[in-house]
Amino acid sequence: MNSGMRRGLTSYGDPEFSAYLRKAFIKAMGYSEDAIERPIVGITNTYSDFNPCHGNVPQLIEAVKRGVMLAGGMPMVFPTITLHESFAYPTSMFLRNLMAMDTEEMILSLPVDSIIAIGGCDKTLPAQIMAIASANRPAIVLPTGAMLTGSHRGERLGACTDCRRFWARYRGGDIDASEIEEVSGRLVPSIGTCSVMGTASTMSGLCEALGLSLPYSGSIPAVYAERMRIAENTGRRAVELIAENLTPRDILTRKSLLNAMVVLQAMGGSTNAVIHLAAIAGRVGLQLDFDELDRIGRAVPVLVDLKPSGEYYMEDFHASGGFPALMAEVRDFLDLDVLSVSPTPFWQVLDTARADPTPRKAIRTIEAPVSSRGAIAILHGNLAPNGAVIKQSAASPSLMQHEGRALVFDGVEDLVARIDLPDLDVKPEDILVLRNAGPRGGQGMPEAGYLPIPAKLAKAGVKDMVRISDARMSGTGFGTVVLHISPEAAVGGPLSFVRTGDRIRLDVAARRLDLLVSDAELSERRAQWSARAKPRARGYAALFDRAVTQADKGCDFDFLVSEH
Ligand code: FES
Repeated sequence: MNSGMRRGLTSYGDPEFSAYLRKAFIKAMGYSEDAIERPIVGITNTYSDFNPCHGNVPQLIEAVKRGVMLAGGMPMVFPTITLHESFAYPTSMFLRNLMAMDTEEMILSLPVDSIIAIGGCDKTLPAQIMAIASANRPAIVLPTGAMLTGSHRGERLGACTDCRRFWARYRGGDIDASEIEEVSGRLVPSIGTCSVMGTASTMSGLCEALGLSLPYSGSIPAVYAERMRIAENTGRRAVELIAENLTPRDILTRKSLLNAMVVLQAMGGSTNAVIHLAAIAGRVGLQLDFDELDRIGRAVPVLVDLKPSGEYYMEDFHASGGFPALMAEVRDFLDLDVLSVSPTPFWQVLDTARADPTPRKAIRTIEAPVSSRGAIAILHGNLAPNGAVIKQSAASPSLMQHEGRALVFDGVEDLVARIDLPDLDVKPEDILVLRNAGPRGGQGMPEAGYLPIPAKLAKAGVKDMVRISDARMSGTGFGTVVLHISPEAAVGGPLSFVRTGDRIRLDVAARRLDLLVSDAELSERRAQWSARAKPRARGYAALFDRAVTQADKGCDFDFLVSEH
């Protein structure tokens, strides 16, 4: 039988010897015959002293193991890479594919009959979904859950929208160095993922929408006892999935991706999720349909009243019914005929959520939305032939149609060197352009797209400007920020031809981003273009530079994308 401890035997040229040797070694860990004959559930351990977003992973693992054993399985924990946004140089996106490869290869290499992937911080859930999609063993994702909120001088605080808000106030001279220091001790009051609708919350919600997590897994705060109980249930369910042989590729279909897009728009989710969904789609032989995402955004309003698009925080969202309550509200846009890891059919989960009389202060109704349009719009134009994104729900309405003079920064270093110069020639109506910050040019597409307002304008009270780039932005960011311009400047995309002083027009209603320069002039600039940087030669960086795809393809490695 090719399962349990006999699965994927190490090759010595004699399978019976391999099985005998494996048994001998695992017995050294104290396991009995009974234990090693059980179905084996592999559990990824992504705990690290450098990852506070995963600070509850040891407790979650204990709860998951309990559930596995209650269901008659054998839990086996193994480590994988873990990623935290603030502890990933140069950027966590550079390492997402490494984590996906590590997780996939460990799943394929170990004798596990099903998998529980425990993750949370921004890039971890996408990496794990990409991995389980490619490995295609029965699998459930268990998010670590969001942190609680803190307070500062009577004001409620949550990472990391308020991190940025207070930093902007500090830059603008509104608060001093001692107060910003005080704030830094209050912004992250517990372990868990960021407490707003940033990338981590978005991805944990998309795990539910895609059918990869149990209902409510996406919203229960990290430190609640409820999270331990859902971990136990996840363990139980992972044993049942082995008998059902339900795999991620059964679950990840065009229909479930459409559901994810609906939920992404309705939750006011992070722009980063567009890249991750494109990568996940690629792992199962599909392409994310950007036109469809935009069409959904025109029909499905933002209903989740969480920062950065709204008012509240993840613990309020959970108290309002979490993702099942949200999905019940947009039920008419969802395809309910989809598979999921939950033993309860999707429609029944939504029926139960709809019947729940809990007041929903953080989830609006379709009739009274946070914003009448979805969170994310897809732009095209001569500056973004393969598309760009804008989080319109977090943008300034007055800047959604705007024409201005370009002020170009040639990379993140140039931005850092010049943005705060007192004699910088910049006006509030200018358009700030950052390039060479894409997947290749930025060595992993840093979250530098949220360009700071130049110090001299910030001090004068300017809060928002149109900013465009081939970079990403944290899901906790806000403002009129166009991101993921594709193709990026480093591979010769039109962004590389922009010169300071050119006119650029942004028209979100028309879904356009254009450089107002004649075609003839553009052709001339194109003819003069040459690549700035050579691909790196060594190690993972060399692999990354050779194989990373553009933002519209999810920044996955080209050799990891599935053809079917
Ligand atoms: Fe980990 Fe925000 S830093 S979720």
